[in-house]
Amino acid sequence: MTRKSILIVDDEISIRKALTKALERENYNVKSVKSVAEALAVSKEVQYHLMITDLHLPDGDGLNLIRAIRQSNKEMASIVVTGFGSVESAIEATKEGVFHYVTKPFNIDEVNVLVGRALKHEELSSENKHLKQALHKKYNFDNFIGDSSAMVNVFSIIEKVADTSSTVLITGESGTGKELVARALHYHSSRADKLFIPVNCGAIPSGLLESELFGHMRGAFTGAVANRMGRFQAADGGTLFLDEIGEMTPDLQVKLLRALQYQQIEPVGSVKPIEIDSRIIAATNVDLEKAVVDKRFREDLYYRLNVIPIVVPPLRDRRGDIPLLVNHFLNIYNDEKNCDVIMRDEGLMNILMGYDWPGNVRELENLVQRMVILKGAGEIEVKDLPSKFFGNKNIDIPYLVDSAKLSSSIDEFLNLVLPDDGLDLKAVVNRFEDHLLRQALNRTNGNKNKASELLKMNRTTLVEKLKKKNLSL
Ligand SMILES: Nc1ncnc2c1ncn2[C@@H]1O[C@H](COP(=O)(O)OP(=O)(O)OP(=O)(O)O)[C@@H](O)[C@H]1O
Ligand SMILES: [Mg+2]
Repeated sequence: MTRKSILIVDDEISIRKALTKALERENYNVKSVKSVAEALAVSKEVQYHLMITDLHLPDGDGLNLIRAIRQSNKEMASIVVTGFGSVESAIEATKEGVFHYVTKPFNIDEVNVLVGRALKHEELSSENKHLKQALHKKYNFDNFIGDSSAMVNVFSIIEKVADTSSTVLITGESGTGKELVARALHYHSSRADKLFIPVNCGAIPSGLLESELFGHMRGAFTGAVANRMGRFQAADGGTLFLDEIGEMTPDLQVKLLRALQYQQIEPVGSVKPIEIDSRIIAATNVDLEKAVVDKRFREDLYYRLNVIPIVVPPLRDRRGDIPLLVNHFLNIYNDEKNCDVIMRDEGLMNILMGYDWPGNVRELENLVQRMVILKGAGEIEVKDLPSKFFGNKNIDIPYLVDSAKLSSSIDEFLNLVLPDDGLDLKAVVNRFEDHLLRQALNRTNGNKNKASELLKMNRTTLVEKLKKKNLSL
């Protein structure tokens, strides 16, 4: 551990000498000066962990000096020494965030104890700052990848609504990044310094969820041996993330609605409501509108949650993001696992872009992580991919170009080298066209309007083509 550095500011030479000697004995790096001007000058050179200053100095006052140095060294701890130990100056000192105070004449052992405590405080607050910085870094947009128009739209909504207290409902398939959106909202808001508390409503047994959310009083039920704070309260001033909200039971939906309406909660077993100020973000991968129609989810709660809707699109609808995500995860896992794996084969990337990713970004992240670990170093090749990437029965390339005896992947098809004995271009192009037309129909459940939009052609041309080719869903 590095030695802590301490700055002593006092105009009395005997005090400077006594403190320096005592603290050097404790193995601190000590510098002593006699005025505000000198203290400001040396603080420009060194970021001291702690300053011990006299309250009254010949050219100014100790509290102003602390304030000035803290502008560039926020975590610096401080101890104020004064001959006038008045209550007023003690209170004023506390307002400046100075929690340690000694009056002259002091005992050097007492100062030693205070120095230890003040430095511990400084350490915790700078640790806290680093932790927060790490979290902010993780959830800023640099690590939230996507330049597809759908994701750019999501980012712009996040920026617009992050710093409001509006409730947000995030919907999207599993693994699309809903929690990432929720965290980005929190870390882009003025609540960022408070807690982000996630609750997975689907993973906590319904009997326990109420007390988990609202807390309980001692004796409220068997096993409630002490009062317990709920997550609503833990997120006070911060953000409460209600994940898988669609799984919440009807009776709890009523209680949640009431909490949102009145911004108050009642711990289980208590009749005394508690005011709460937590921002609510909910997420679901089920169709809540349908759940409302089916009477599984309360309509009034749905509208209360759905003030700002954010829809995170499935990865197969933003395939252009796939190469960016692959690179992002390669960097992360190469770093984390100390590996050196690269991926530059276009054919391989085409396979990844052609795959439908039912598990969305999480599935892609897991794949990259696994390939980095298994490969360790070097270039990932098509043959390193798991077999699920080659299971598409629709693509029947050998049928197209018998003589080429190509393997059955669309990407090898795209990388097709003209075989020595040639091929029937019309047949190949036709098959390729059939393949894409069929995919468009499949994906839109046979809706020809949507299919024609996907293929950027007009509907009449599509209908004619399908008729001519005798293709249907
Ligand atoms: N756009 C993105 N950029 C970088 N990483 C992403 C992105 N989207 C998702 N991820 C990563 O993918 C994983 C899954 O994301 P997340 O947990 O947010 O999904 P989810 O929608 O909440 O899934 P589920 O519905 O299963 O809970 C996480 O590790 C997340 O960091
Ligand atoms: Mg999630």
